[in-house]
Amino acid sequence: MTLTDPEDGLPVAEIGIWSLEKHERLRKYVDAAHGARRRFISCAYVDLYCGPGRARIEETGEMADGSPLVAFRSAAKHGDQFTDFYVADREPAFVEAAKTRLEKLGARVHAYTGEARNVTKEIIFSLDPKGLHFAFLDPYGLASLPFAIIEELAARKHIDLLIHVSSMDLKRNLHNYMKPKSRVLDEFAPNWRQAVDTRLPKESVRQGIFEHWRELLISRLDIAPNARVEEVLNSKNTDLYWLVFVSRAPLAHKLWEAIANVSPQGRLI
Ligand SMILES: C[S@@+](CC[C@H](N)C(=O)[O-])C[C@H]1O[C@@H](n2cnc3c(N)ncnc32)[C@H](O)[C@@H]1O
Repeated sequence: MTLTDPEDGLPVAEIGIWSLEKHERLRKYVDAAHGARRRFISCAYVDLYCGPGRARIEETGEMADGSPLVAFRSAAKHGDQFTDFYVADREPAFVEAAKTRLEKLGARVHAYTGEARNVTKEIIFSLDPKGLHFAFLDPYGLASLPFAIIEELAARKHIDLLIHVSSMDLKRNLHNYMKPKSRVLDEFAPNWRQAVDTRLPKESVRQGIFEHWRELLISRLDIAPNARVEEVLNSKNTDLYWLVFVSRAPLAHKLWEAIANVSPQGRLI
């Protein structure tokens, strides 16, 4: 049964309370970067795994905004709103709901239904090459985050990315992903098999793959991941995800560093 928000009758996603950490970081970064947006004529917000825009928190039953609405409301705070919202998801009902909710708030929305890897190119072509853009990449697992997507986004010079990398997926499925016939990690972090010693303990292999992925951003795309990686854990101290901020702009890195330490979980990797 599809959950809906009684306020607007549109679908909502079900999220764990841990997702609020992601949204907090998104909200704070969008807010912190308002002065930078003010200097550009075109500033797009790109959300390739946008969800429906509203969510029900499993643990409390409360309703909360999803990422596109978090970004919109945060950007509205100082009047430096994104000029365009590019939202995409493989669930058609989610895309439609996110679009409707954003438009109700007054956003200019461009909506795409489909796998992120299939819609990114079209979105990138629409982005003003001289604009300042921000992409939030929030898939459930690594199979939905091929490196090719980041490569396409990084074709725009002024783009900042906040990327959710599922450490839980890497932990739970490492054994399967390491099998020669699995393509998941080859797509997520190309050439990882040459870069990581798979005879090491599993935790070292996992860290090695993540490190290799971050190095690829620099060596292949000339775009730097910030050293301050937020590692979000659940109440049992099991890792859920890494939040990685990526940019070519020194000022953007400073802004991230200023807001990334809001959680006791934030640490340098
Ligand atoms: C963690 S949820 C994102 C929630 C949203 N970013 C938010 O914070 O409110 C992941 C979303 O990605 C979508 N999704 C998963 N894999 C995808 C893929 N390969 N391409 C496009 N969408 C995908 C799912 O339908 C789901 O809505």
